[in-house]
Amino acid sequence: METSRVAPGVRTHEKLDLALIFLGPPGAGKGTQAKEVARLYGVPHLSTGDMLREHVAQGTSLGQRAQPIMARGELVPDSLVLKMIAERIERPDCAGGFVFDGFPRTVAQAQYLGVMLRQHGYRPPVVIHFVIDPQLLLRRITGRRMCKQCGRIYNIFECPTKLEGRCDLDGGELEQRPDDREEIVGPRLQAYERQTAPLVAYYRRLGRLHDVDASKSVEEVKLQILNVIREAR
Ligand code: AP5
Repeated sequence: METSRVAPGVRTHEKLDLALIFLGPPGAGKGTQAKEVARLYGVPHLSTGDMLREHVAQGTSLGQRAQPIMARGELVPDSLVLKMIAERIERPDCAGGFVFDGFPRTVAQAQYLGVMLRQHGYRPPVVIHFVIDPQLLLRRITGRRMCKQCGRIYNIFECPTKLEGRCDLDGGELEQRPDDREEIVGPRLQAYERQTAPLVAYYRRLGRLHDVDASKSVEEVKLQILNVIREAR
């Protein structure tokens, strides 16, 4: 297998010019990888979860509708998410491609996205499917902590910070997402199986799906993703 030509942490000069979709269950590592791949290619990381949490934090009407749904571990209605995404990909920073993390999450969202991409002159998306043993997910989700200041993701079991409760980069306080509590993990995984897992067959039929082994280390998963991108471009 070809290995990455990009040294760890170094930004590539290659252009993405693609819509990438990171698809997989909660805790599979989509956000960790999406941040890094978006940084390497200099394109936006479009996480619908982060966007919705921002609306909740700001108390917008969308945030007020989404908050109780997210707290139960269920999916926010398609109409709300699609409006948010349609507005976001209109912005000029999306002209060179983007990385979707946590979107689309239903077949209806995927169909609408297909139409939007065609309208904006994009090729069909490249879908990275995070394949992982479900046994690993609980540990990854309940151990996750995020820096309040820079959003960097840690895990108290897998990659703890040097100083407990503080970000290695900026010393910011770490917090746990309310939906990462153990009792909400079950409903989130059920929502994934019921509403999002059908997208695997949907994109496989379209010939757009690429499996990566998400149980490997962060670095190994990144190399698999970069190889898929190079072959797909
Ligand atoms: P969202 O924010 O999208 O959450 P999610 O899909 O449940 O995914 P997670 O963020 O939990 O996991 P991840 O795969 O990004 O893992 P991470 O990289 O952080 O959605 C939240 C809610 O918003 C939904 O429940 C829903 O209500 C709503 N929503 C969002 N989008 C929606 C949509 N399109 N439609 C409707 N509703 C929507 O990693 C997890 C942990 O593992 C971290 O601690 C990390 O450090 C660690 N880790 C990562 N990779 C590795 C590795 N390779 N080895 C060891 N540890 C690792």
